[in-house]
Amino acid sequence: MTLLVPPEASAPHGYGSDADYDPFPDELKPASELVAATGLNIVIFGQPGCGKTTLIGTATEHPQGRDVVIADFDNGLKSLRDRADIRGWPMNSFDEAVKLYSYLTTKRHPFRTIGLDSLSEAYRIQMTDVLRNPQRKNTRLSPDQNDYGEANEGIIRMARAFKDLAITHGYNIVMTAHQREDQDATTGAVLIRPSLTPGALLGVVGAVDALGYLRIKNGQRELLLQEQGNILAKYRQPRSGPQLPLVIQNPSLGPIIAHLRGEYVPEIAEAPRADPQEIAEAAKS
Ligand SMILES: Nc1ncnc2c1ncn2[C@@H]1O[C@H](COP(=O)(O)OP(=O)(O)OP(=O)(O)O)[C@@H](O)[C@H]1O
Ligand SMILES: [Mg+2]
Repeated sequence: MTLLVPPEASAPHGYGSDADYDPFPDELKPASELVAATGLNIVIFGQPGCGKTTLIGTATEHPQGRDVVIADFDNGLKSLRDRADIRGWPMNSFDEAVKLYSYLTTKRHPFRTIGLDSLSEAYRIQMTDVLRNPQRKNTRLSPDQNDYGEANEGIIRMARAFKDLAITHGYNIVMTAHQREDQDATTGAVLIRPSLTPGALLGVVGAVDALGYLRIKNGQRELLLQEQGNILAKYRQPRSGPQLPLVIQNPSLGPIIAHLRGEYVPEIAEAPRADPQEIAEAAKS
């Protein structure tokens, strides 16, 4: 049997040791350097009126969050009509998303935060396009497996393309989704998750660094960035350094962008660390 990795190569990296490696190729960069320039990329989901669209607008609080443009699939910018500094791009068809993407990648512009509001409505629009496609084999009005497959692929491709702008351009990509509750037929357990088909959900959530659940609790808005009980959420952050609290009251994207960029944020640096035990208890109650 031949070992794929010789034992000496799997030893800790030998910078300055007696290991005799060839110089690394340019593409091989320290993880710290690779992510330093990456913008926030997050999916925020929640009930109608919980404040998803308004939260996108709070990115202007950080210089790296300005300006904000929102791909308005939901026709939901009324909550921001007092904000002349935020621009919206009406998304009546999927082609508009392609146009916005092309504008963002080929033109000089001030936008550093791009909102896709919402993926759930984008999915519906995409499905309408799929059903109207003259090449479609099925003539029934309701979607079949192929139609779902095609719509899933379309939405995943769009979400990934925009997410990649967080890596290539350092833009903040903030996507929203409506909330959906699924009940497991056998256990009866309810899962609270973004409203997308399971295939699209997996592809989109797997691609982003964060999934946040926004809710109003006791009259206050709260953003969950870690799974709590039956609520799906996630946040990728290193284990060392100031930790972003994973339950944030009155959330705003300004401090989150600052934290991501390694800036000192007093309310984060000084926040008490969440006690996993306490969270587990709270989830049960
Ligand atoms: N942090 C906040 N503080 C006070 N009011 C807020 C806050 N966030 C949102 N609101 C108010 O709540 C209402 C709904 O906000 P918003 O449209 O952002 O919610 P949404 O989740 O995008 O809703 P929808 O799912 O219908 O698109 C608006 O009237 C908005 O002004
Ligand atoms: Mg909205």
